[in-house]
Amino acid sequence: MMERPGSLKKIIKDFHSEMLRGLQNKKSSLKMLPAYIDRPLSSEKGRSFAIDLGGTNLRILEAGLKGKGRIVAFRQRQFSIKRELLSGGAEAFFDFIALSLKSFLEEKSKLAKNMKLGFTFSFPMLQTGIASGRLIHWTKEFSVRSVTGKDVVNLFNAALIRKGLKGIKIVALLNDTVATLIARSYKDKNCDIALILGTGTNACYYDRTRQGIINIEWGSFNKLPRTVYDLELDKSTDNPGEQTLEKMVSGRYLGRIARLTLKGLGLNIPGLETEYLSGIELDSSKNLLRVKARLKSLGLAKSSLEERKLVKDVCLLVSLRAARIVAASLAAVIMHIDKNLSRRHSIAIDGSLYQRHPWFSRNIKLTLKEIFGKKAAKIKLVLTKNGSSQGAAIAAAVASKCKI
Ligand code: GLC
Repeated sequence: MMERPGSLKKIIKDFHSEMLRGLQNKKSSLKMLPAYIDRPLSSEKGRSFAIDLGGTNLRILEAGLKGKGRIVAFRQRQFSIKRELLSGGAEAFFDFIALSLKSFLEEKSKLAKNMKLGFTFSFPMLQTGIASGRLIHWTKEFSVRSVTGKDVVNLFNAALIRKGLKGIKIVALLNDTVATLIARSYKDKNCDIALILGTGTNACYYDRTRQGIINIEWGSFNKLPRTVYDLELDKSTDNPGEQTLEKMVSGRYLGRIARLTLKGLGLNIPGLETEYLSGIELDSSKNLLRVKARLKSLGLAKSSLEERKLVKDVCLLVSLRAARIVAASLAAVIMHIDKNLSRRHSIAIDGSLYQRHPWFSRNIKLTLKEIFGKKAAKIKLVLTKNGSSQGAAIAAAVASKCKI
């Protein structure tokens, strides 16, 4: 029987067949990239460092692994990345990362010797080893020049040398989904899938048969039915035709979809951003006063109740659709690794959208119930805050035990 386009069943089926094609190196919108790092044993101990790059901030962390799945953050700093760096040259970009690390270490410069450093680089990479990876293409509207096709560890090492930080060596390079999976796995043996729902979106899973972690790069899944507004949004981005799922799901785009949809329905609110969706959707007052205040702050001084209802409904639908796409894709991954859902699965999730949106997590859970029925109880969604930084610190400890 043919499934209805856009139905959960159809998405799950198409997603799974794209996964299989990707794994077999056939043409697929899912890259299915092997990550060259093992899951931790929980017994790793010692001090390690992480650099986490992937959104608008760069994070640096010094962490202590205490064994038995315990990790403490000794120090953490966040550096905001100037917009112009995102579309400038590679040297300036990697110099910025090196200088941020230098300023982080300045207080304790002797740490630089023999430090274990993990690098979370949240973009699609073709890895050939634990500490090397070439950028396949930028996503999330990053467009730093002359990085595509190059090994980012080499580019970073060159910047370290330029900035006089010679003794430092990256021992592990990983995607943020992989880091999040590692962070949760350090204390939870049931964790075999991780998701990021933030500026971008993606997932990875532990493949038992291949004994390794696979970064799906699910943001580029392209078998979803799109509305005219999705198409319009796509055209306005710097990578039209790419990252189709990401443009329907992640924080970078949800506000824009709501804006374009409302415009199509006759209501123009140019300032509507993803961060306002939560407040709008949470307004349960009879006259939608919170929505009214938000619209006012966005330049719509007078709004009718009808208009406010429309704004709220559109926001609710945009975020509900996103959560349902996530749940269906996740279901495909679960079915791939455990056909009859016979084991328990902890799904580690990190990212601002998941953390801040009031209904996202609930909507994913409800949709999983719709798909799996009672068996959905075996699936646990676990918020894994700072997973993408902590995971890199743990990965550095795992990697320094292996021969590189
Ligand atoms: C984008 C990147 C992917 C990353 C995700 C979440 O989809 O391509 O590598 O994991 O954003 O940050």
